[in-house]
Amino acid sequence: MLTQQSTAAALLHRFRSVRAATLHFCGPLSPEDMMVQSCAEASPVKWHLAHTTWFFETFILTEFVAGYQAFDPDFRWLFNSYYKALGEMPEKKLRASFSRPPLDRILAYRTHVEAAIERLLQHTPEDEILRRVSLGLEHEQQHLELAATDIKHAFYTNPLQPSYLPLAPGHSVGHAIAPPMEWLPFSPGYPVRPGVIEIGVTPDPHSVNGFAFDNETPRHSVYVAPFRLASRAVTCAEYLTFIDEGGYAHPEFWLSEGWDTVEREGWQAPLYWRRDTSNPSGWSIFTLHGWRTLGELSETPVCHLSYFEADAFARWSGHRLPTEFEWEFVAAQTAVHGNLLESDALHPRPAGSRNGIHQLYGDVWEWTQSPYTGYPGYKPLPGALGEYNGKFMSSQMVLRGGSCVTPATHIRATYRNFFHPATRWQFSGLRLARDAAS
Ligand SMILES: [Fe+2]
Repeated sequence: MLTQQSTAAALLHRFRSVRAATLHFCGPLSPEDMMVQSCAEASPVKWHLAHTTWFFETFILTEFVAGYQAFDPDFRWLFNSYYKALGEMPEKKLRASFSRPPLDRILAYRTHVEAAIERLLQHTPEDEILRRVSLGLEHEQQHLELAATDIKHAFYTNPLQPSYLPLAPGHSVGHAIAPPMEWLPFSPGYPVRPGVIEIGVTPDPHSVNGFAFDNETPRHSVYVAPFRLASRAVTCAEYLTFIDEGGYAHPEFWLSEGWDTVEREGWQAPLYWRRDTSNPSGWSIFTLHGWRTLGELSETPVCHLSYFEADAFARWSGHRLPTEFEWEFVAAQTAVHGNLLESDALHPRPAGSRNGIHQLYGDVWEWTQSPYTGYPGYKPLPGALGEYNGKFMSSQMVLRGGSCVTPATHIRATYRNFFHPATRWQFSGLRLARDAAS
């Protein structure tokens, strides 16, 4: 078992690594790039840099370090996102107006807070501080992923539509052929019977290792029938068939709210797709590597789908989305491995050719048919941190598995992401499921 001292040392190493990864991502960006907020869901990258630092200062340094000197008292309300218990904060849509404080001062804020957190960790602090540093690091990794998706949207809306990272000549994103989709059987009971499975994480107030968000707790029993899960995610080529066969023109495939959204927004394809007769595939897709043809990406998982589109595709295909419990049952038997942020692909890649399950982790967040609610017996964290997850448990759907811009040390089988069903700016796609008997 790790000693308190070695736990603090491991956390210090992780702290440096996670903070450095955020700045590494900003490498190709100019200060002006980091000011853009191009849609309601997004925030400027500069704001992400400040807000993740604010989290450490607010929930650790201010609360636990006697005599801590705040870097700037105004930052306490300026970079608060949604923690109402801490007081008022600027409206989200105003974040693009933060030309002041300048980027240099935000970077100095990061350095100031990092030095204070490092001093804390070097003196083996109490368990609650270690737990909060862990939470702060998971929070920073969430915002790193948001920065990637926010800058993608920012560049898409820029008239020049620049690449975040241009590909070297001759390189492509989706060079392989995805294997045929197979239906893999899973059964909670033996041999093929319904059964009770265990889902989620048991909170252990004494543990400072093995992080989980409060929304992954408590571990509990769920009754599940035998089911089949597709061996890989749905590809762009498969989704194109849905488009070509009138998927966006037939209300019978859509949930009522989804169809209303299709009509109101004029959706005819996933976000970032445009018709383009200059290439044989007839479509181009905007990526963090700029515009690529659908021909190049046809075998990659389709992404930037809303829940409504994922669900409509599943209905059209005669299948369904998995529940989050079916997904976790399979993922718990699968090592965390895949096309995550550290692969540097920055876009989903075709599935590999070996047998078995592919792409559970990485590539695209997979929409499930499960609404985002608290597990039985769920308790939010005490105090203002209780606002982190619990207050969003209405009108959102659960996604699982991480994406090509999720840091590898951030994802796990029990991790629950959640978005409103009309949300498309994340790397969100789908995997099909069906009942074993169907
Ligand atoms: Fe946040």
